[in-house]
Amino acid sequence: MEFSEIERLDGAYLAHTYSRYPVAFCGGKGATLLGVDGKEYTDFGAGIAVNIFGVNDEGWKEAVKAQLDKIQHVSNYYYSEPTARLAQLLCTKTGAKRVFFGNSGAEANECAFKTARKYSFMKYGAGRSDIVSLNGSFHGRTLFTLTATGQDEFHKYFDPFAGGVKYADADMESVKRAAERACAVVIECVQGEGGVKALPEGFVRDLAAFCRENDVLLICDEVQCGLGRTGKFFAYENYGIVPDLVTVAKGLAGGLPIGACLFYEKTEDVLGPGDHGSTFGGNPVACAGAIEIVKP
Ligand SMILES: Cc1ncc(COP(=O)(O)O)c(C=O)c1O
Repeated sequence: MEFSEIERLDGAYLAHTYSRYPVAFCGGKGATLLGVDGKEYTDFGAGIAVNIFGVNDEGWKEAVKAQLDKIQHVSNYYYSEPTARLAQLLCTKTGAKRVFFGNSGAEANECAFKTARKYSFMKYGAGRSDIVSLNGSFHGRTLFTLTATGQDEFHKYFDPFAGGVKYADADMESVKRAAERACAVVIECVQGEGGVKALPEGFVRDLAAFCRENDVLLICDEVQCGLGRTGKFFAYENYGIVPDLVTVAKGLAGGLPIGACLFYEKTEDVLGPGDHGSTFGGNPVACAGAIEIVKP
């Protein structure tokens, strides 16, 4: 199909939520993308941190196709090998104890926030449910993750929000003021949408110590900065800290929808049957692709 026809259909039938550049991609190899105009483009964006093995990676395609030839979906009433294997791989690689799979970064964060609230409720009762989020952060576009996003420009039009989020600067005095009734603090070690800003090392270490001393859970949102993009598997490893919950998505399955919330020592048994779920969470095709991305 010619570019002009794709552009016309998109304009006529898709919600106008994106301002697109005037090109449609239809193929490529590695970091070279092919446009329907027949031109080659060098890909510096990787689909916003998603195509981390580039496009058309042979090993990844083989893994995904092999799974498609077996079964494309298994409901979470049943077991699935790629799902279990990916969870094992993520845990052995990171020190996490368990994993919950969803389909996106926002869902991974929703899972972490629910876990933090339940952890605190079970231990301390009601009234200690705030999530502290940093100004300049981005955590997703569902109503709660939007609330937890510390940038006003994303908030306009969508009031009222769920509540239970307090905002702080990357400064311990500001965090302490916001954390009076907090169950968790969420950070991106490198704020992505906020301008590719690494949090100061001293602040992250002090924050981890404060969280440990006060039994406030530390959530690292690794959706954009994780998966090798800072030289380590997760960005928090650069800071010498161990979080209580980690969220990851984007490039995890190499270009298929996936999100994951990783539970560390304190949080591994917080969620029980019926507390959380997702129809497509742990989809075997996405997990087969992810194994190929994550495997040593
Ligand atoms: C740090 C961070 N968290 C969460 C999200 C939301 O991810 P998703 O769009 O997969 O819901 C994003 C998306 O850009 C992100 O950068």
